[in-house]
Amino acid sequence: NTKPTALIMIFGATGDLAKRKLFPSLYQLYTKNKLQNFAVIGIARRPLTTEQFQENVKDSVMTFANVDYRIEAFISHFHYHCHDVTSSQSYIELKQLASQINNQYKLKGNCIFYLAMAPEFFGTITNQLKTQGLTNVEGYKRLVIEKPFGTNFETAKALNEQIRTVFQEEEIYRIDHYLGKEMVQNIAVIRFSNALFEPLWNNRYISNIQITSSETLGVEERGRYYENSGALRDMVQNHMMQMVALLAMEPPISLTPEEIRSEKVRLLRSLRPMSQEEVNTYFVRGQYAQGIIHGETVPAYREEANVSIDSNTETYVAGKLMIDNFRWFGVPFYIQTGKRMDRKSTKIVVQFKDMPMNLYYQAEHKLTPNLLVIHIQPKEGITLLLNVKKSGTTTETKSVRLQLANEGTDYINTPEAYEKLLLDSMRGDATNFTHWDEVALSWKFIDTISEVWKKTNDESFPNYPAGSPGPSAADALLAHDGHIWWPIE
Ligand code: BG6
Repeated sequence: NTKPTALIMIFGATGDLAKRKLFPSLYQLYTKNKLQNFAVIGIARRPLTTEQFQENVKDSVMTFANVDYRIEAFISHFHYHCHDVTSSQSYIELKQLASQINNQYKLKGNCIFYLAMAPEFFGTITNQLKTQGLTNVEGYKRLVIEKPFGTNFETAKALNEQIRTVFQEEEIYRIDHYLGKEMVQNIAVIRFSNALFEPLWNNRYISNIQITSSETLGVEERGRYYENSGALRDMVQNHMMQMVALLAMEPPISLTPEEIRSEKVRLLRSLRPMSQEEVNTYFVRGQYAQGIIHGETVPAYREEANVSIDSNTETYVAGKLMIDNFRWFGVPFYIQTGKRMDRKSTKIVVQFKDMPMNLYYQAEHKLTPNLLVIHIQPKEGITLLLNVKKSGTTTETKSVRLQLANEGTDYINTPEAYEKLLLDSMRGDATNFTHWDEVALSWKFIDTISEVWKKTNDESFPNYPAGSPGPSAADALLAHDGHIWWPIE
């Protein structure tokens, strides 16, 4: 855990991600004294002076974090390069600046190339970085990239091949910011460090697992991107599949990135493949209509900016995944995610099997099953539902909750995720980044669904009002198996 030293080149430094996540996270790392030496070169097309750029960095840090006197020293580490991604000359100048800054801050030739921009430029940029010698560094070189990593398996593969001509797999850090979330990192710990859960974590004791990630936000200004993506590619291919993998993988033999990732890969390989005919049996899609959120009327998806008036893009997905291995055969993993739902909440509910026989009376003559709820956000913690005796009666039981709530952070935990992931990338810890094999397998699974959905318009769209828990077909999906989405917060 030594403190890292690095030059971070952020491509797309005037963009939303840099402003909202990267600058505030770097500030947190800086003020927590987690960094040895560092400097940033912000790279973007817009003509800015370094002073103007530093002011922008300051503004964004002040918007998203609490700042003190250290902000001035912090922004002095930031430099700016006005860049044309296709011009060789621009890379030559960038190289000169990088070498000057490397000497000035004694950065040991360690270099992180952070591509916080549209993926269509990934290939060009990495190619130029190599041709113009920017990747000839004395220390390490690492590439950090953001999703979307392709739009299907084929495009992801082409993109991967392009960047692999310049960077080795172990030098590529593919961000999935869910892997930086505190409670997502806790999944493996809850499973593998508790004698109470580990022996039960299989198809003999678990009835089903439900993963929900709901948002109240709509598509905001991202209509153009979202129209071609939809909830399936935006959320399921990456975040939801990663959570399934962490919940279902076998115990790794050690905590090295290689061991953990190879267990995740094995798990993704055991997902039951679907034929095109089966897609609509296992998966449900939705799109929001106008509705009310926090007391305000919000428009339908089809009325959002840069969205087609007859759009067939899904803003909600629910699905049932089956894992065909010894541990999980027969246990459904239900997932659901959507925009403009009734609440912002990410959680996992593990439902244990019913007792073989019910000796007790409870409302509706049914014992509530034991549930383990892992709250990921906005609340962070664990809830365990148990049955105990109702006091004063003899055989009547009631369901009680054992709750562990993590200390709330003063703002939502997303910046924290970036903070951890940025630090990991500087330290060279790839555990919480996705390996190409994981990306490839999850695309292959998702592709079958998106191919079917592309071919057939969903005539029921829009099929859920903004501010609701999603389309009714999602309830039917579980009801078919005799289950319900547990409404536990
Ligand atoms: C991103 C998606 O990956 O995750 C967004 O592109 C979504 O559409 C976001 O809003 C959700 O992240 P979080 O951390 O708020 O759950």
